[in-house]
Amino acid sequence: MDLRMTTLLAAILCVVATAPNPHEAKNLCPQGLNAPLLLYGDPDNCTQYFICAHGRNHLISCPDGKHFSNVSKVCVPPHSYFDTCAPNLHEAKNLCPQGINAPLFLYGDPDNCTQYFFCVQGRNNPRSCPEGKHFNNVSKVCVPAHSHFDTCVPNPYEAKNLCPQDPNALAFLYGDPDNCTQYFFCVQGRNNLRSCPDGKHFSNVSKTCVPPHSHFDSCAPNPYQAKNLCPQGPNATEFVYADPDDCTRYFTCAHGRNHPGSCPHGKRFSNVYKTCVTSYSYFDTCAQENALKECENGYKGLIAHPTICHRYYNCTKIYRHPQSFLGPYDRECDFPKVFDVLRQECLPFKQAFCGLNRTAGKNGCDYVQNLCPVSHCVPCSIMFTNCDGLADGYHRHRVGGFPRQYMLCEDERVLQEAYCSPATFFLPRLARCIPWPYFSSDCADDEIFSPVLRKCISDKYYNDGCSLSQFYSSTENKCLSYDHFEDK
Ligand SMILES: *[C@@H]1O[C@H](CO)[C@@H](O)[C@H](O)[C@H]1NC(C)=O
Ligand SMILES: *[C@@H]1O[C@H](CO)[C@@H](O)[C@H](O)[C@H]1NC(C)=O
Ligand SMILES: *[C@@H]1O[C@H](CO)[C@@H](O)[C@H](O)[C@H]1NC(C)=O
Ligand SMILES: *[C@@H]1O[C@H](CO)[C@@H](O)[C@H](O)[C@H]1NC(C)=O
Ligand SMILES: *[C@@H]1O[C@H](CO)[C@@H](O)[C@H](O)[C@H]1NC(C)=O
Ligand SMILES: *[C@@H]1O[C@H](CO)[C@@H](O)[C@H](O)[C@H]1NC(C)=O
Ligand SMILES: *[C@@H]1O[C@H](CO)[C@@H](O)[C@H](O)[C@H]1NC(C)=O
Ligand SMILES: *[C@@H]1O[C@H](CO)[C@@H](O)[C@H](O)[C@H]1NC(C)=O
Ligand SMILES: *[C@@H]1O[C@H](CO)[C@@H](O)[C@H](O)[C@H]1NC(C)=O
Repeated sequence: MDLRMTTLLAAILCVVATAPNPHEAKNLCPQGLNAPLLLYGDPDNCTQYFICAHGRNHLISCPDGKHFSNVSKVCVPPHSYFDTCAPNLHEAKNLCPQGINAPLFLYGDPDNCTQYFFCVQGRNNPRSCPEGKHFNNVSKVCVPAHSHFDTCVPNPYEAKNLCPQDPNALAFLYGDPDNCTQYFFCVQGRNNLRSCPDGKHFSNVSKTCVPPHSHFDSCAPNPYQAKNLCPQGPNATEFVYADPDDCTRYFTCAHGRNHPGSCPHGKRFSNVYKTCVTSYSYFDTCAQENALKECENGYKGLIAHPTICHRYYNCTKIYRHPQSFLGPYDRECDFPKVFDVLRQECLPFKQAFCGLNRTAGKNGCDYVQNLCPVSHCVPCSIMFTNCDGLADGYHRHRVGGFPRQYMLCEDERVLQEAYCSPATFFLPRLARCIPWPYFSSDCADDEIFSPVLRKCISDKYYNDGCSLSQFYSSTENKCLSYDHFEDK
């Protein structure tokens, strides 16, 4: 109550205390000497109110057409939110919480984006956003119209809206399914269109704008799809592999896409060692796998066969073997040698390094050059010896039949074929070359190259006498001429 009203009240109390009360019908004043001060609006006229004094109600008018507010107990602008007298102009749209302790509340006018309501004591008081702004029902502030914060206007990209609707959702971005250079940025459940700079493409994977066709570019078609061997799926392991058409190039996988890379000059990519290695070296497994292509592309040198140790390619020259199993450039070491990948030459098996996964033939018939490409030729098995079923060590040669010829076996592999020096012969029991003539006392020596015929009876030798130009053969059980063993 202001000073003016207090003075007025004092005057009323002094002067008209005894006159009849003209407003007795509307008197709601507390009675009694200690009754509290009370003001209340005239139920019939918003611009008037009563003030109580000693149980009497004195009528007062609000200045300037204002309305008396039963709530704030002062005169307030008509229809302002403290005006409890005039009917609420926006009652139909009133969503304000009711009650004395109702919390502060603001909400957008459902019919007008620039307007919103401010709740005070249960009434909805209209407010307007500044020019060009719309009220945001979520953040409760005026935001630039049609910006992504503008929740009032319809979302122009609603058909493509994949934004999480949860207000607490983390930032979310995703590529426009119809345009690689565009993406959507989610704010308060709305998808706001953004463009990548410089023609870049938005990557759904890295969630950034990336150079078109780079390996993170999940939008544009993969230019190397035909060669894509990358593991797919979210848990795909790291993978890198040589370009099947060009050993100097390789692909690295990222998110299922294959991204090309090049080896430095003089190097080639190895799928085994997963790195660029010196071209045509032992480690160059790509050249080994693609030897024919490498030869045809102009390489002039030797390339180890990828899986067969006794084979290699000689790119210097195309070999024409009209009746051979060997293809162009295809070379085979002479049995029993194998191709050493480090020294790049045919060497005896024990001295050679085959490298991983290159297995060498164990006997002559594993070498294709020894096989018959036609039906009418000598079978390999009677041309080439073998160590099948033999223990490691020296043995009589299985094919030659000459007493001087022997072979070295290891792991059932023919390591060496050789002749004893002249005037010696190979004695299997002792596994070495023995000077001729030889007088054995052991019946285990099935053939005795002695000038005297000796027979084995009850594990003992008996001399039956062959002539000096003959020897005794226990296998044939007779004297044979030495001419029988002359080298062919
Ligand atoms: C309401 O009160 C004001 C001020 O006393 C007066 O001018 C006006 O005529 C009254 N209105 C009615 C409808 O009685
Ligand atoms: C103001 O309060 C009085 C007393 O409670 C009541 O009779 C009157 O109708 C109220 N006026 C309005 C406009 O609510
Ligand atoms: C929306 O409200 C503003 C401010 O109150 C007003 O200027 C505008 O005319 C209204 N628009 C409509 C369509 O009612
Ligand atoms: C704002 O919120 C109110 C209350 O929840 C609702 O009636 C109104 O339609 C909303 N306005 C817009 C533009 O969403
Ligand atoms: C894709 O989006 C870019 C950037 O917004 C635009 O310039 C281009 O015209 C769009 N392309 C198509 C086919 O819609
Ligand atoms: C990006 O992701 C969104 C949502 O998962 C999907 O709709 C859209 O097609 C994707 N874009 C591309 C190019 O994969
Ligand atoms: C990927 O790995 C996660 C975590 O190890 C596992 O939960 C999920 O099932 C895997 N997804 C696939 C497709 O293998
Ligand atoms: C050997 O063969 C295995 C199985 O095929 C393969 O994984 C490996 O890469 C090969 N190693 C070499 C050096 O070729
Ligand atoms: C490779 O071929 C060239 C040309 O015919 C020849 O001179 C060279 O000896 C061959 N090398 C091997 C190891 O076969």
